Amino acid sequence: MINVSTPVYVAVGILVALGTASATTWLLPDENHVIPPPGVGGYPAKPVEPGQIQQANPQTVELGRVYFAQICLPCHGVRGDGMGEWAYRVTPKPADLRSTRVQSRSDTQLFDIISDGLVGTPMIGWKTQLSERQRWDVIAYLRTLPGNEESMQ
Ligand code: HEC
Repeated sequence: MINVSTPVYVAVGILVALGTASATTWLLPDENHVIPPPGVGGYPAKPVEPGQIQQANPQTVELGRVYFAQICLPCHGVRGDGMGEWAYRVTPKPADLRSTRVQSRSDTQLFDIISDGLVGTPMIGWKTQLSERQRWDVIAYLRTLPGNEESMQ
C-alpha cells in the first residue's frame, strides 16, 4: 500500500544504509592502511615554524642525511661544521651548520637559503637538485647535527 509518506521512509532507509556502509568503510581497520604522518614527510602540513620540524620522523632525517652527504658535505663537512674538503677553496668559508647563528634560523628561513642560496657566495640554491620534500628532509637532518647547542658563532 502506497501513501504519501512511503517516499520519505525509502529516502530515510537509503540514507541509513549509506551511512552504515560508509561508517563501516571508514571505521573498520584496514590492514593495508598506513596512517600518514602529519603533512609532507612527517612535518606538520603548514605553517612550518621553528621547532615544528623536530617532529620529523627518523626516516626523514635519514633521507636528509643522504642528500646532505651527496651535495652539502664537500663544503659543510661530514659534521656540518663547515670544514669540508672544499672549504679551503671557497670564500667566504662555508657556514658551521651547528652554530647558533644557523640553528636559530627558522625552518622556513633555512628552506629559503637552501632553495635560493646566498647571492654572491659559493652557497648556490639547490632547488633544481633537490625537490621541495628533499630540502625539508635536509633541514630535518640539520636539526639533528650533534653539538649544535654548544657551538657558537
Ligand atoms: C660549494 C660549497 C657549498 C655547498 C656545496 C653548500 N654550501 Fe651551504 N654555504 C656555503 C658557504 C660558503 C656558505 C656561507 C655563505 C656566507 O657566509 O655568506 C653557506 C651557507 C649555508 C647556510 C646559511 C648559514 C647561515 O645561516 O648563514 C646554510 C643553511 C647552508 N649553507 C646549507 C647548505 C646545504 C643544506 C647544502 C646542501 C644542499 C649546502 N649548504 C651546500 C657553501 C656551500
